[in-house]
Amino acid sequence: MSTQRDGTKPPGNGAFRTKTVEESIKDTEDPEFALRKSLSALDLTVFGVGVIIGTGIFVLTGEVAKENAGPATALAFVVSGIVCALAALCYAEFASTVPVAGSAYTFSYASLGELPAWIIGWDLVLELALGCAVVAVGWSGYVRSLLDTAGAGLPDALSGTHGGKFGFDLLAFLLVLVLTGILILGVKLSSRVTTVIVAVKVTVVLIVIIVGALYITSSNYQPFIPPSRPVSGGSGLNAPLIQVIFGFTPSNFGVMGIFTAAAVVFFAFIGFDIVATSAEETRNPQRDVPRGILGSLIICTVLYVAVSIVVTGMQKYTELTVDAPLADAFKAVGHPFWAGLISFGAAVGLTSVCMILLLGQTRVFFAMSRDGLLPRTFSHVHPKFGTPYRSTVLLGLIVALVAGFTSISELAELVNIGTLFAFIVVAIGVVILRRQRPDLPRAFRTPLVPFLPAASVLASLWLMLNLPSETWLRFGIWMAVGFVVYAVYGRGHSRLGKARAGR
Ligand code: ALA
Repeated sequence: MSTQRDGTKPPGNGAFRTKTVEESIKDTEDPEFALRKSLSALDLTVFGVGVIIGTGIFVLTGEVAKENAGPATALAFVVSGIVCALAALCYAEFASTVPVAGSAYTFSYASLGELPAWIIGWDLVLELALGCAVVAVGWSGYVRSLLDTAGAGLPDALSGTHGGKFGFDLLAFLLVLVLTGILILGVKLSSRVTTVIVAVKVTVVLIVIIVGALYITSSNYQPFIPPSRPVSGGSGLNAPLIQVIFGFTPSNFGVMGIFTAAAVVFFAFIGFDIVATSAEETRNPQRDVPRGILGSLIICTVLYVAVSIVVTGMQKYTELTVDAPLADAFKAVGHPFWAGLISFGAAVGLTSVCMILLLGQTRVFFAMSRDGLLPRTFSHVHPKFGTPYRSTVLLGLIVALVAGFTSISELAELVNIGTLFAFIVVAIGVVILRRQRPDLPRAFRTPLVPFLPAASVLASLWLMLNLPSETWLRFGIWMAVGFVVYAVYGRGHSRLGKARAGR
């Protein structure tokens, strides 16, 4: 991976061959594979908020407050927000330097080489596909609860898997199919739909904060950080890896509990990185992508901290519910009207999260296919709609089936570990690209390089270590499979490899 005297890369053709930034940008100009450039900074911010606020705040807040952190859940959001802000500053530089579809995948291709890029692309597929499925199932739970209230409940066999009893999740399945159709029709349409949905969602979150603040009982904050308590009956595989490594008795609450909670509520922040995947469809990516990424992250962090403070103040953390904690806190203080409105807003809001996760995933797949690492048929763009319809159909169907057939709560942790891994690769990539290509125009520069990227790597790793050993195991298996696919298909079909070999 050494650099030549003139600053360019040697034309290597191994697993670490890199695709230059110019090559990546040139690919996007080929009319057969070009996406339409129609998004602005505001569209991107709306996109960001649209995908960031979702299952994390609407569902996971209750669970972590109850199981891991109590009222200190607000601190967990702060910790997670800081980890994401560090990563966002690295993503912003990369996205403004390499404004091409595919996010961390493309960034790694330009800096670390083909194999690391493949690994990250494979990892992103996991993050986005499972993330979308998790959110679709969460959405279906909220909609079923609204249907039940209206006396139109679905039979158990079509209501998803609960407590080990299998049921097909019809609503989650249908949601993913409908969203797939919308994405095929075009990004601009998707972005308009998202704008309306985001408005509803943010309004509901503000209602929780403002109206909920009127019902806070200060005694609910005592103790703010509940004392540490050993987990009864937890096996080694369920314990955070960090506790296993250092031989601690697996425990909840206390200061360590805040970090465990942070590693889980991290799911609530996933999405700002996806804004970067839309760089190629942005009118002025150098200026607008960093604005979109950082803007949406800041808005969401402030809202999350406020929501968690309010909710743990409304109801004792031990009494919060796990399925619909925000709505149920309002029921608990005797306000079912607000509770209904919040459930409605959550159901509407989760739709956009699902859609944008799906969008991000199809774009990563598209970029990998355009590079020949996956079959190239998936990177053909629809002549009328300007969208990569084949990869969208394929991935939409797979995600719909996963959402329909799987009970996936524990898979949210798998999504988190995959995303944190991508953060690490991006932070390292920023430093490498600065060294290899100091000449490239960078509309946004990450401050304090290499210290800030180093801090980002350590912070992401710390959160990863706070995830269960079981999650690490599953992640390892997925990555090993990816490695085999690259060796068997990607390496031989890579366009870059063929070009370098003069084929
Ligand atoms: N951040 C998104 C959510 O919380 C993925 O649902």
